[in-house]
Amino acid sequence: MGKRKPLIAGNWKMFKTCTEAVETASKLVKLSSNVTDTDIMIAPTFTSLALVSKVVAGTNVGLGAQNLFWEAQGAYTGEISAQMILSAGCSYVIIGHSERRQFFSETDSSVNKKINSAIQSGLIPVMCIGETGPERDADKTFSILDKQVQMGLEGFSSGNLRSLVIAYEPVWAIGTGKTATSGQAQEVHRFLRSLIEKKFDKNLAESIRILYGGSVKPDNIAELMSMPDIDGALVGGASLDPEVFSKIIHF
Ligand code: 13P
Repeated sequence: MGKRKPLIAGNWKMFKTCTEAVETASKLVKLSSNVTDTDIMIAPTFTSLALVSKVVAGTNVGLGAQNLFWEAQGAYTGEISAQMILSAGCSYVIIGHSERRQFFSETDSSVNKKINSAIQSGLIPVMCIGETGPERDADKTFSILDKQVQMGLEGFSSGNLRSLVIAYEPVWAIGTGKTATSGQAQEVHRFLRSLIEKKFDKNLAESIRILYGGSVKPDNIAELMSMPDIDGALVGGASLDPEVFSKIIHF
């Protein structure tokens, strides 16, 4: 089995104006230009995408959006389609982040439609899943993740999902400074890979990249990346500063 190429992705959430986004991306491009063995992605806010795409064009820094709406176009005030995201220069899109599930009522079934729309347009979907603190305490971690995967990926074939990236982000570890231990994360990543094998096939299970997210920092990335089933990271807070994010990229 060939080792999966790591992906280090920065989710900028609702931070940075257009000017700040361009400045950060420009610094990051310089700091990471020597990286060849790791894929890099940043996901600024929608308003900065087209500007940042000019900064990262022709570099090793990929661009992603933080959400999409599944219809191609129409009377959906305030929403943005996969085609629009593509035309702004993106190749990735984050889907189903726990903050969208928590604050914007996203469900596994909306995640499913969004993944479908991303795939149809040729965007690489980064599907976020994860249990809350109370769910983990009640020993429901695996059943919650099972449901999120089953419903989120309902109706797809393994052929459809060749580009899919999964991000395991335990909700209790996001923005809290509480990282899952590398052992806890590895246990879940192993579980997810076997779930993909059962639901689809071994090829997909072995090639799919499963990222860890939740308080990833320069001082814990190496340990996380040493785990056999952790293929990268989805980084929030520590991706906002290009110097700090570059240290994570250079794990
Ligand atoms: P933090 O790295 O700030 O904990 O955020 C993780 C996250 O939600 C990335 O999508």
